[in-house]
Amino acid sequence: MQKDVLKGKKIILGVTGCIAAYKSAYLTRELVRRGAEVKVVMTSAATEFITPLTLSTLSKNEVVVNIFPKSKNESTSLNTWHIDYAVWADLMIIAPATMNTIAKIAHGFADNSLTTLTAALRCPLLIAPAADVDMYENKITQKNLEILKDTGCFIVDAEEGELASGLKGKGRLADNNKIIDAAELILSGFRKDLVGKKILVTAGPTYEDIDPVRFIGNRSSGKMGIEIAKAAFLRGADVTLISGPSKENAYSEINLVNVRSAKEMKSEVERNLKSSDVLIMSAAVADYKPAAFSNKKIKKEDKLTSIRVTQTDDILSSLKKDGKIVVGFALETDNELNNAKKKLSSKNLDMIVLNSLKEKSSGFETDTNKIKIIHRNGKKFDFPLKSKFQTANDILSEILKIFR
Ligand code: CTP
Repeated sequence: MQKDVLKGKKIILGVTGCIAAYKSAYLTRELVRRGAEVKVVMTSAATEFITPLTLSTLSKNEVVVNIFPKSKNESTSLNTWHIDYAVWADLMIIAPATMNTIAKIAHGFADNSLTTLTAALRCPLLIAPAADVDMYENKITQKNLEILKDTGCFIVDAEEGELASGLKGKGRLADNNKIIDAAELILSGFRKDLVGKKILVTAGPTYEDIDPVRFIGNRSSGKMGIEIAKAAFLRGADVTLISGPSKENAYSEINLVNVRSAKEMKSEVERNLKSSDVLIMSAAVADYKPAAFSNKKIKKEDKLTSIRVTQTDDILSSLKKDGKIVVGFALETDNELNNAKKKLSSKNLDMIVLNSLKEKSSGFETDTNKIKIIHRNGKKFDFPLKSKFQTANDILSEILKIFR
């Protein structure tokens, strides 16, 4: 079984003083559950919102708040802890990061435990800001975030929504799952290498309606395509996701176009491809649809014995590619490699991702996948069993090779 990227990783979680600090308890717990060793450092403002005891209990480690003892008679055993922590860590996450802390880090201040540690850091730094909308959109804050980006910090932007003040707008701390996805991405060595790229992804099954209650569908959960969309977004791409019916959720910043049938998917792909650089067709598009749709529910007494079907249009084969990078998937049960190569050439693709249903823990309704990638030039790469998020990152890295 493949190993969780976070397992055994040493992570410092910096928590600063804003209402979203309560969410750091859940973040700590999830990081620990995924096998990371977590050490928490808090600003004293953060302790107004959540106690060090809570985060110490959840992280199973001492929590640092003060650099200096509170009274002259109190001794501290931590000594050069900020250097020790900075050398120890594989990753530091600051979530939530207030505007104040962001400003301090951007300008090199080292005036509390957290900023002192950050100044000495050797590992990557992931910052998830949170503030009320006007503080967040303040030009100085945005400039400071740009400085941090330019110095190599990985920013997981705040999200839009209802804020603690009751105002609506951008400023909500990013969802913990997104912060953890970004941590996983960074710890796997990926960065924001898709900035400026417009990526169109399709996901899920299509449903071809028979009557108002029944349809022809397939077992695709949409997970692979959604993980590709998420990974591309975190790596900086502008992402549009065209999804057939799926229970899975992408991030709120990803432009989502919901479709039902192969026909709807085809017209949305054609419409959105014009403004995209890359199309990744991971949807399991139905090949057959009922020849006719019955407006009324087909009843038992109709004594139906068969449903006549016709073929849907093949979206990839009928596309005008116009210099776009087009990636297809091949889902096979036998003669896998040959079938995938045939699809690569007959559908005029730049790259094909082969999924074999023979592989255990691979394909439909699973969280993992084991793929082979074949490029137009015949180069073939085999990947081991990984989570679908990691697989998504491998696919994106192969696409980046085509750009170069
Ligand atoms: N595809 C498509 N339009 C269709 C069917 C499939 O664009 N009507 C795309 C899929 O999104 C995938 C690729 O074609 O990227 C291969 O899909 P797959 O189901 O493996 O193959 P098919 O071409 O449908 O052929 P078969 O089912 O006979 O293997």
